[in-house]
Amino acid sequence: MESSVSDKNRFARVAGIVLAAGKGTRMQSDTPKVLQTLLDVPMLWYVLSELSRVCQTIYPVLGYMHEQVEAAFPQYKDYFVHQAEQKGTGHAVDCALPLVKKGDFSHVLVVNGDTPLVTAEILTEFVDKGLSSGAPVSVLSMEPESAKPYGRIVRFANGSVDRIVEARDIEDPQVQDIKEVNSGIYLLRVDVATTLLSSLDADNRQNEYYLTQVVELARKANYSVQAFNFGNLPALLGINTVSELCLQEDLLRSRIVHGHLKKGVVVRNPVSVSIGPFVDIEPGAEICGPARIVGKTCIKKKSRIEANTVIEDCSIRGATIRSFSHLSGAVIEEDCQVGPFARLRPGTFMSSSARVGNFVEIKKSVIGRGSKVNHLSYVGDSELGEEVNIGAGTITCNYDGQNKHKTEIRDKAFVGSNTALVAPVTLGAGSLVGAGSTITRDVPADSLAVARAKQKNLERKK
Ligand code: UD1
Ligand code: CA
Repeated sequence: MESSVSDKNRFARVAGIVLAAGKGTRMQSDTPKVLQTLLDVPMLWYVLSELSRVCQTIYPVLGYMHEQVEAAFPQYKDYFVHQAEQKGTGHAVDCALPLVKKGDFSHVLVVNGDTPLVTAEILTEFVDKGLSSGAPVSVLSMEPESAKPYGRIVRFANGSVDRIVEARDIEDPQVQDIKEVNSGIYLLRVDVATTLLSSLDADNRQNEYYLTQVVELARKANYSVQAFNFGNLPALLGINTVSELCLQEDLLRSRIVHGHLKKGVVVRNPVSVSIGPFVDIEPGAEICGPARIVGKTCIKKKSRIEANTVIEDCSIRGATIRSFSHLSGAVIEEDCQVGPFARLRPGTFMSSSARVGNFVEIKKSVIGRGSKVNHLSYVGDSELGEEVNIGAGTITCNYDGQNKHKTEIRDKAFVGSNTALVAPVTLGAGSLVGAGSTITRDVPADSLAVARAKQKNLERKK
């Protein structure tokens, strides 16, 4: 107990810095690298959300297209640091220090913004080791399968850390072969960082002020330097290229899916299922892959999501979603059935036991309890009461080229197949519309409307 309380106090004086100013040239994209997404969520969000479980105050360092990044993270508006010109990772930290020094912080935990799979657990263990060692400079090192793109940790024969050599600056083949590399995560004592960062030079192949040079400068100034080797942890891999982005995204996907499996969500064919970080699924729900479930989606127990569905920003409260359906911004209550091949667009609300079948599109509409829209229909800007039946091929003509209009279909109305309902229009409760009608006027309750040419049977000419 004692130690955890004191740990908490020790951590309270550690500020977070996220390096996120670079363009990400190797991504071949105009989007700032930290806004590239994994499972539809920007890379930087993951770093900030894990780091925020370790440090109460975080300063993201922004540069390239910073307005765009700021707009994506408004909650950090008082903490953004501007690095107008991207002169290197060391320069980026230096830009943040004046703000850090306004607070009562003993250390900074620096994390590269392109390492989105790092977890709060890893960071906590590292900070703990760094603080306990008393070293003013600590680096989190690792031994990934390929050391190639990373800065190598060069140690003396006695094991103590000498310096970090960037991949691009390696000349000595022995350094090339070093397996221990820099993860881009550091714990620095604020006073020591201030002194050392002011003596960086840009004497390297990229002509940048490297944060990694702090290691050599510290050692030369007789400050103790520690590199804590966390081994081969895929969570620590950085993202510089699109292939690294997609590999890390897949790793994250697998991590999230396994989290749901562990909780008791049935995820069949799990390798083919993508679930975003904001998705909430109750144990007892069943997902069949392949499936993509993203955004702020919530899926309650007794829901069954069949294969080949895409779901974003939906609430599914115990319903069955059959194969090949595409759902966005819909609320679906218990015992509903959707699909196969249904498309629900934003603003769809299906009350309990409603059904939407194949090749049906619903937009901004309420489908009342027990109502059915089973085949080949479009329902938009509509309100359907309870136990309404919409025949195959019914279209609500909601758009006149300028404005959208509403269709109301009250309880127990029955619409025959191939009907056009020209909005604004209301079908009264218990009304019946003959198949093939084009309805342009309201239909009173309990009446029959037929609006189609009468059939003529003529003698056939020979
Ligand atoms: C960096 C490390 C390398 C380490 C690797 C781990 C340096 C010099 N090298 O290399 O030792 O093995 O990370 O993944 O630090 N950034 C800024 N401002 C700048 C330059 C970069 O904010 O002026 C940000 C980038 O947006 C990025 C992070 O710093 O999020 C790292 O920069 P990057 O160019 O990706 O460094 P690496 O070459 O990967
Ligand atoms: Ca990187």
